Amino acid sequence: MCGIVAYKGHRNCHSILLNGLKRLEYRGYDSAGLACLRNDGQLSITKRRGKVKELEEALTDKNCDGIGIAHTRWATHGRPNQVNAHPHADQSRKIVLVHNGIIENYLPIKKFLISKKIKFKSETDTEVLVQLIGYFYNQGKMDFEKAVRAALQRVDGAYGIVIMNTDYPDMMIAARKGSPLALGIKDNEFFIASDISPIIKHTQQILYLKDSEMAVINGNKYTIKSVLKDITMPKNIEQIDYKIDDYDKGKFKYFMHKEIHEQVDTIANTVKGRVKSDAVLLHGLSEYWDEIESADKIYITACGTSWHAGLIGKLLIEKFSNTPVFVEYASEFRYNHTLVDNKTVVIAISQSGETADTLAAIKKANDYGAVTVGICNVPGSSVGRETDCGVYTRCGHEVGVASTKAFTAQIGILYFLALKLASAKGEISKTSLKRHLDYSDAMKKVKTVFRQEKLIEKIAKKYKKATDFLYLGRGMNFPVALEGALKLKEISYIHAEGYPAAEMKHGPIALVDKNMPSVFIVPKDKTYEKIISNIQEIKSRKGKIIIVTDSKNKVLKELANDLIIVPRTNHYLFVVLATIVLQLLAYHIAVSKKLNVDQPRNLAKSVTVE
Ligand code: F6R
Repeated sequence: MCGIVAYKGHRNCHSILLNGLKRLEYRGYDSAGLACLRNDGQLSITKRRGKVKELEEALTDKNCDGIGIAHTRWATHGRPNQVNAHPHADQSRKIVLVHNGIIENYLPIKKFLISKKIKFKSETDTEVLVQLIGYFYNQGKMDFEKAVRAALQRVDGAYGIVIMNTDYPDMMIAARKGSPLALGIKDNEFFIASDISPIIKHTQQILYLKDSEMAVINGNKYTIKSVLKDITMPKNIEQIDYKIDDYDKGKFKYFMHKEIHEQVDTIANTVKGRVKSDAVLLHGLSEYWDEIESADKIYITACGTSWHAGLIGKLLIEKFSNTPVFVEYASEFRYNHTLVDNKTVVIAISQSGETADTLAAIKKANDYGAVTVGICNVPGSSVGRETDCGVYTRCGHEVGVASTKAFTAQIGILYFLALKLASAKGEISKTSLKRHLDYSDAMKKVKTVFRQEKLIEKIAKKYKKATDFLYLGRGMNFPVALEGALKLKEISYIHAEGYPAAEMKHGPIALVDKNMPSVFIVPKDKTYEKIISNIQEIKSRKGKIIIVTDSKNKVLKELANDLIIVPRTNHYLFVVLATIVLQLLAYHIAVSKKLNVDQPRNLAKSVTVE
C-alpha cells in the first residue's frame, strides 16, 4: 500500500516532501520516512514508526536541497516499526529506494543475495529489491539505470518505486508496474508521487507512468524508458485542471463526523445538473451510452463499502431496468472465471479511485472488451483514467478512513443510472420516472435525521461495552446492514456481522444472548411483517433489539429496547437515511471508547496493494 512522494529540483526538500506525505497519509500511517542527499553529498535517512507528525518532529537535519524521496507505510511484509519503514538502502548505502506494492518472489531473491554475502536489516520485500539493484550496480558493475532495469526484470509482483544513488547526485529514477506513479513537471523541477494530490499545487503538467515504464530524471532533463529494454517511450503529458482543497475539520473533532454531517449537501451535489424533472442526464456516460443501454448484462465490481453500494445498485438496476446485474468483489473478479465480453458493462465503484484490486478488475474487463464505467470520487485518479467513461460522485475530499459520504453519493449515482436505463429501455412510465426524479423533498429529510443524533449518542453509550453486534435487514437494507456492521468494526473494533434478517436463523442466532445487541433496519415496506417475525425470534432469546425504522407504531415500540425513527420518504431513499443513522451509531460508539475514528488501527484510506 503506502504513499510515495519524491522531489528533484533546487529547493529544500523537507517541506515539499512532508507536505506531500501528509496528503498521502490516507494510504497508510503506521510508519514514515524520508531520504535526501545532503548538500555535502552524504545520504540522510530519517524514519519513524507512527504518523508523519512523528517523522516531522524527528527531522532535524535541514541541510537537504535538491533531491529527496519519502514514504508513508501500511505494513505488508514486516512489522510496522522503524527498521521496516522506508526508504531502504542497499548494503553500500549508496542506493536508496521507496516502494509501493509487493515483490512476490522476494524470498528466492533474498536467499540468492544472502548467498552473495549481502546482509539484510529489515523484514521487508522492499529491501530485497534495493539490495538486488545494489548487487547489480556494485558487483555486476552496471551503470545505475542498467542496474535498476536488470533488477526490475527479475521481480514478480507490483511496484511503484523511486530510487536515488549517491554516485549520481543529479539523477532520480522512478518505475512502475501495477502501482500508479505520477510525474509532475515544472520548468527545472520534478515531483513524483503515488497520486497527484501532493503534486498538483506545484504543477498541473502531469505524466502518468504506464506499466513497465521508468522515468529517468538527469539534471534538468528527463526521459521515459521501458523497463523491459533500453528504449525510449513517448512522453504523454496531461494538463490536469484540478484543485485540491486544504483539509479542514471545521467545528468537528473528527473528519468522519464532519463527513457524516456533510451528507446534507453532498447527496444533492452528486445529483445536481445530472437530473432534469423528466430525464436523467449523466453526461459522463454519453459517449458509451448506446453500448451501456444495449448490454446483455452488467457486472459491478468494488471493494469494502463501495462493494456494499454495488449490492444496492444491483437491486436498483434489476428492479427498474430488468437488466441482469452481478456484483463481485474486485479481488475475486480479477481471478474468477467471469462471463465478461463486449456485450457486458462493468461498473467499477471506488471512492479513492486507487484501490489496487478494483484497478486490476478494470484492466481485466478492458482486456475482455467490456465497456468499463467508473463511479469514483477523486478526479484524476486511476479509476477515472482507466475506465472508458464514468461519473464522479463529487462529494468532496473524504479524509476519514471509514467511508461515509462517498457511500451515499454512490447510491445516488446508481439510483439515477438505474432510472436512466429503465427509461431508455421503456421499462418505466413517464409519470413514475417523474415521481422518482422529484427528489427535492426527500433530500430535505436527510437533514432531519440529524435531529436524532443525541438519541443515537445515548444508545451508543449504552452499548459501547458489547463485544458483538448483529445488523439485520432485508432487500436493499441487507447491504445497509453489512455497511453498518463494517462501520462499527472498523472504528470501534467491536465484532459485528451484517445478515439478511431472515437468514440469521440459519446460524448466527446461536450467538444471541442477553448481552448481544441486534440492529434491525425496518422500513414499512413489503417485508415489514416478515421482519417483525425475525425480531420476535431474537427477542424470545433475550437479545437486545435496536430498531431503525420510518414507522412510528406500538408494535415496534414494544419490541425495541431502543428505537430510532427517521422520516418517511420514497423508500429508495430510506436506505440513505438508515445508513446515516448507522454511521452515527458507529461513530458515537467509537468516540465513547476514546478511539481515533479518523485513523483506526491497521487500516488505510486507500488499499493500493492486492
Ligand atoms: C470502509 C472503507 C473501505 C473502502 C474500500 C474500497 O469504510 O472505506 O472498505 O470502501 O477499501 O475503497 P475505495 O472505495 O476507495 O475503492
